[in-house]
Amino acid sequence: MHTIITKRLLASTPEDIQEAGELLKAGKLVAVPTETVYGLAADARQPEAVNKIFAAKNRPTNHPLIVHMPGADRLNQWAKNIPEKAFQLAEAFWPGPLTLLLDKADHVSSVITGGLDTIGLRVPNQPVLLKLLREFDLAVAAPSANPYQKLSPTTAEHVLAGLDGKIAAVLDAGPCGVGTESTIVRINDKNAEILRSGPISADQIQTHLSIPVVTPEHHTQAVSGNKAVHYCPNAKVKVKTFEQIKDGNKNALIKIAALVFTGDISPEGIETISKLSSNHINYRHDFYAVLHELDNQNVDEIWVEAPPLSDDWNDIVDRLNRAAEK
Ligand code: TXA
Ligand code: MG
Repeated sequence: MHTIITKRLLASTPEDIQEAGELLKAGKLVAVPTETVYGLAADARQPEAVNKIFAAKNRPTNHPLIVHMPGADRLNQWAKNIPEKAFQLAEAFWPGPLTLLLDKADHVSSVITGGLDTIGLRVPNQPVLLKLLREFDLAVAAPSANPYQKLSPTTAEHVLAGLDGKIAAVLDAGPCGVGTESTIVRINDKNAEILRSGPISADQIQTHLSIPVVTPEHHTQAVSGNKAVHYCPNAKVKVKTFEQIKDGNKNALIKIAALVFTGDISPEGIETISKLSSNHINYRHDFYAVLHELDNQNVDEIWVEAPPLSDDWNDIVDRLNRAAEK
């Protein structure tokens, strides 16, 4: 793929938002801010444009993409046979970090769905992106704006570190507000299945439904975010207890960085130690940014304190386990 100049557009500049819209309409790839992570967007009505996403990310073409809409009023344009319960969840959580898996509308290109009959849909809670989608009457297919299997981006700098020269532009709105990818839910008459944990927990979803919310252990690999290896920094990730990290590193041959939340420590033999909040919302906000930062120090391993095993932390535990699989 030949190199192009990636423009850096600013979400605070109306002309730049305009330019992002025009580039998308012209079938170009633009990385856009969402409340979860930055997405690599293409006009969902142009299959040739959507196709470019896979090459830029080096992502297998059978991994389906989420379509981002400006409002729940567009649901019928992109999905059919929509169960009443899906509307209830849309009402409760949109705009927000919830992706609903529904039967795709007939016109939807199989390029978006990876050949499946279902489509992932969400309304992102990011004011600049919503304005862009509304003003240009756009829906965009957008995976996270990172090379395949790498760490997700929560800033424009993270996007450029992975995709500079491969996409037309990035629209910079500063750090994402939430920090991990949306919760993916498939609903049928009997239950709601969480196919990828995310910022909206199973308990939160349950409060809005009369049917059980379940988390199946085995399901389709078509959810690429559910591949065992994913969300990987270059360094090897090891999940450890606070005590283990506190004990330090005795092997002078390996460079270690560590991430904790329990307390301030400076263990021996660890190059850099970062501390995040013990509040899951604040931790999630900075999670990918800290991993990017530690990874940039070219350490051999990143030791991460195991997060609490509670419903609120499920998405963070999940992402760490996948990063540690490598
Ligand atoms: O928060 C998010 O969801 C971010 C932002 C950009 O919106 N997007 C994101 O996209 O994380 P991506 O492509 O990195 O992960 C989306 C996941 C993939 O694992 C994909 O396989 C799954 O959603 N997915 C999308 N459509 C699907 C479908 N029809 N059936 C099963 N899985 C689907
Ligand atoms: Mg992704």
